[in-house]
Amino acid sequence: MTAARVKTRTELRGQRRRRGHGCWNHLLVAPLWPKHGVNLGTLLRTCDAVGACMAVPRRPWVPDALAHGNTLRHRQCVHWIDGRVERWLARQRDGGSAIVGVELTDESIRLADLSAARRRTIVLLGHETTGIPPEGLELADITVEIPMVGTGHSLNVAVAGSLVLYKLAGLC
Ligand SMILES: C[S@@+](CC[C@H](N)C(=O)[O-])C[C@H]1O[C@@H](n2cnc3c(N)ncnc32)[C@H](O)[C@@H]1O
Repeated sequence: MTAARVKTRTELRGQRRRRGHGCWNHLLVAPLWPKHGVNLGTLLRTCDAVGACMAVPRRPWVPDALAHGNTLRHRQCVHWIDGRVERWLARQRDGGSAIVGVELTDESIRLADLSAARRRTIVLLGHETTGIPPEGLELADITVEIPMVGTGHSLNVAVAGSLVLYKLAGLC
């Protein structure tokens, strides 16, 4: 058997879109209580890969963090949230969007049991230290947990968000 060959950049470019996707408004990742800019940049790159958008509060440091973290050259789809994030989340839910909380709770389903999104879905991520606050969890239709067998309490938030985005996008 011949060894597998890593695809060249030219081959990969031929398989990709020529421009960033517009706003499909179907899948939105929502790190509503962000702490570290580097995680936002990582999540934005996953958004490009799976065709998702990001919804994030307009804190003074966030636009810079996103501009810095966006290693892709084109503009990304970002929905800026002004005012209280819980109010924004409640409006999304009232408007018919499904809210999937990514969190280790006693009611969470396992990632393997999560189906691809069939309607507009908001993927809610928690604060890097304190997680999703109770008022956020109250608005979630379901919560999903990524099983772990190691010693750490939790995964990095951008890793957790990326895994769930891939599942909801139906790409794995
Ligand atoms: C670093 S964790 C929060 C800290 C966590 N409460 C702890 O005590 O370690 C940041 C966020 O990542 C997500 N997260 C991390 N690991 C996860 C897992 N295994 N399953 C689901 N969500 C996870 C959640 O959104 C969580 O709020």
